[in-house]
Amino acid sequence: MTPARAVAPLTVAVTGGRGFLGAAVVDRLRARGHRVLALDVVPGDGPVVDVRDERDLRRVFAAEGVQRVVHAAAVVGVPAVRERLAESTGINVLGSLAVLGASASTGVDRVVDLSSEEIYGDGGSAELLTEETCTRPLTAYGAHKLAVELLAREFAGVLTYAAARLSWVYGRGFPRARPPQSWLDDAREGRRSAPAAGADHVADLIHVDDAASALVILVEAPRLQHRAYNVGSGCGVRLGEVAALIGSLCPAWGIEQAAGQLPGVPMRAPLDTARIRDELGWMPDLSLEDGLRRTLHGR
Ligand SMILES: NC(=O)c1ccc[n+]([C@@H]2O[C@H](COP(=O)([O-])OP(=O)(O)OC[C@H]3O[C@@H](n4cnc5c(N)ncnc54)[C@H](O)[C@@H]3O)[C@@H](O)[C@H]2O)c1
Repeated sequence: MTPARAVAPLTVAVTGGRGFLGAAVVDRLRARGHRVLALDVVPGDGPVVDVRDERDLRRVFAAEGVQRVVHAAAVVGVPAVRERLAESTGINVLGSLAVLGASASTGVDRVVDLSSEEIYGDGGSAELLTEETCTRPLTAYGAHKLAVELLAREFAGVLTYAAARLSWVYGRGFPRARPPQSWLDDAREGRRSAPAAGADHVADLIHVDDAASALVILVEAPRLQHRAYNVGSGCGVRLGEVAALIGSLCPAWGIEQAAGQLPGVPMRAPLDTARIRDELGWMPDLSLEDGLRRTLHGR
């Protein structure tokens, strides 16, 4: 939910602006009247900039008068980071430092960084993960995200840093093979999905439009009281229930699911989103059913 109140237009750079979440944030910021520069290594609408190149970032930020940055560029996901460990560490950690450094030296006053619930690891015995829950990532991807949150402290006093700790995001254009996206793609194309494990795996699923609205609020808010905000639905759902919901929306689709957790994927409690709700008024607009329906219809 993005508040209707008017905000003075800002000049915002979105790194990874042609990716899944970055593009959604670019569209939403533009629809709110902001001037938005989408930076990415993938050519398209906006400059081609590699986040590891601090000098290039500085040049673009200074020339364009960038006031706020949304940092969404990364090698994303546990397997991708593991497979390209050295390169992904360069992009995810050193690239993030370059974004912070370029921001600090060109007068950018706020960086909203896309972090992840991976920083909580398995979350221990907590039933709901608050921003104060102990961070103990179990994967290199989670370690990257936490490292950036910690390194950003070096820039305190020069700029405001806010980490958006996102849960599992899904929605149109999700670029990786992870449920429920692969199932929704199959359902849309009229085929059954391949048998899968993980019917009892519990995840906190958030639709990309709701994630983008939270990120816009973190950009627009006149001030932020915290350095980290959980962004999720606040509810855990078994993947078996997700499959049943998709089946009810699309009866021609089906899947054979084995009981148990997804192998190799840490399972954790859902995110407590009270902080962003109470401080900034954000709540997801879409129920899981509405989000799945929207994705099935390609919207
Ligand atoms: N999708 C999720 O479920 C999820 C959950 C938690 C956190 N996040 C975080 O959100 C951010 C965006 O993820 P996404 O799902 O949109 O992934 P994505 O892969 O769609 O987007 C990442 C973008 O970064 C760009 N990029 C990669 N290396 C770059 C570089 N060196 N310089 C400039 N651009 C580069 C890619 O071209 C791509 O467009 C990431 O930081 C990710 O860790 C995503």
